[in-house]
Amino acid sequence: MAASLRLLSSAALQTYQPRLPQLSPLAIAIRNNTNNNKVQKNVYGPLKDEDRIFTNLYGRHDFRLKGALARGDWYKTKEIILKGHEWILNEIRISGLRGRGGAGFPTGMKWGFMNKPSDGRPKYLVVNADEGEPGTCKDREIMRCDPHKLVEGCLIGGRAMGARAAYIYIRGEFYNEASALQVAINEAYEAGLIGKNACESGYDFDVFVHRGAGAYICGEETALIESLEGKQGKPRLKPPFPADVGVFGCPTTVSNVETVAVSPAICRRGGEWFASFGRDRNRGTKLFNISGHVNNPCTVEEEMSIPLKDLIERHAGGVIGGWDNLLAIIPGGSSTPLLTKKQSEEVLMDFDSLIQAGTGLGTAAVIVMNKSADVIRCISRLADFYKHESCGQCTPCREGCAWMQKMMARFVTGNGHPEEIDMLYEITKQIEGHTICALGDGAAWPVQGLIRHFRPLIEERMAEYKQKKTAANI
Ligand SMILES: Cc1cc2nc3c(=O)[nH]c(=O)nc-3n(C[C@H](O)[C@H](O)[C@H](O)COP(=O)(O)O)c2cc1C
Ligand code: SF4
Repeated sequence: MAASLRLLSSAALQTYQPRLPQLSPLAIAIRNNTNNNKVQKNVYGPLKDEDRIFTNLYGRHDFRLKGALARGDWYKTKEIILKGHEWILNEIRISGLRGRGGAGFPTGMKWGFMNKPSDGRPKYLVVNADEGEPGTCKDREIMRCDPHKLVEGCLIGGRAMGARAAYIYIRGEFYNEASALQVAINEAYEAGLIGKNACESGYDFDVFVHRGAGAYICGEETALIESLEGKQGKPRLKPPFPADVGVFGCPTTVSNVETVAVSPAICRRGGEWFASFGRDRNRGTKLFNISGHVNNPCTVEEEMSIPLKDLIERHAGGVIGGWDNLLAIIPGGSSTPLLTKKQSEEVLMDFDSLIQAGTGLGTAAVIVMNKSADVIRCISRLADFYKHESCGQCTPCREGCAWMQKMMARFVTGNGHPEEIDMLYEITKQIEGHTICALGDGAAWPVQGLIRHFRPLIEERMAEYKQKKTAANI
């Protein structure tokens, strides 16, 4: 039964011709001129519909194989696989793709670390589908509404690094997403797209889904590997790096869902096409999540480097109460320091612009706070989160997160001395850069951002608290 389905589907695949979107004039200019730097561009976004990679982001169409084929997925995948790992790696390098999981490491280089002579151990691609960063909700949309993009991406990414299989480590709470993904994997096996002789390319490749139990720390790549091996999700010391000793002691690359899912489009439409979006070092299209005090919270694919204000006004219906009612914005998920209103008017949504503004692109999850928000309380809530999620291995993170949480809780009511603001800042500096994994940094940065931009507000609240106490004669 499975074999006949497999034959039927592969025959259907051979005759299938999807309507692929046309290249934009800029993409054509870049394709004809391999020196990207010669093409000047200073307007970013809005992204045209024909340039969207995720065409079923809102789940309006069929997520199954039939729908995926109609959207152009699995088109000429066999040819891509047969072009070999060097060709795939080169396209990914040309595309300028940087990891979409938060750190923004160049994907072509990272996948290339796996490209070394075999020592007999199998290699693995591990897909990070943990998506625990508060404010972030993009990977779940891909897995629920467009799972074949990820499954095909696993095959292409796996081929690029000579991997034997992909493990998709999915956050435990994502029941619907895990179900849709499993349906897509089953369909891909039945159609002969993955498994033995994947796409009739002679390459054997398996894809497994592994459900986590919902711990934020299991999104950190080495904690994820530990968890995948059945142990407690606690980050490992590096080196050795996963590309040397990863899951089950074998060479492994951990990549984010979005990173993997865009790789088929890059290979089909060309690395130069992807590189035609965004600024130098900040290339491609990107999924942005916009939540908080906006009229229309949404997840949207846009061009990298789009101005933050444009992104919010164009796609999220603007700030509730108007732009002048804006207080602050967290631009890249809870770990990134907040931006003031003035900064929010100036920054572009890319790695370099946000670093320059003292924050980061992170997961590109934009959290908007208007003047109705108590920003001290918001950051205090994040301090609660990090204290709860710290795995406790490193003293600066374990103790520091607890101190930050306690002090922030007092600052919410104003119960503190102005000197303590510097003490709190000093604690964040003692955590930052002194821990095994980046959870410590992620816990410290939001508090640093608050102190940097809202110190007068904290002091004001402390003065009010003191006044009240004096009035009550306590
Ligand atoms: C505490 C913590 C949580 C993380 N959670 C995630 C996550 O949920 N998803 C993810 O892709 N990366 C997460 N990361 C980043 C991963 O460690 C890793 O850098 C990423 O998966 C690499 O993929 P990329 O190269 O495609 O960005 C987390 C990092 C830390 C320190
Ligand atoms: S930084 Fe925190 S979460 Fe990361 S290993 Fe150390 S204690 Fe665990």
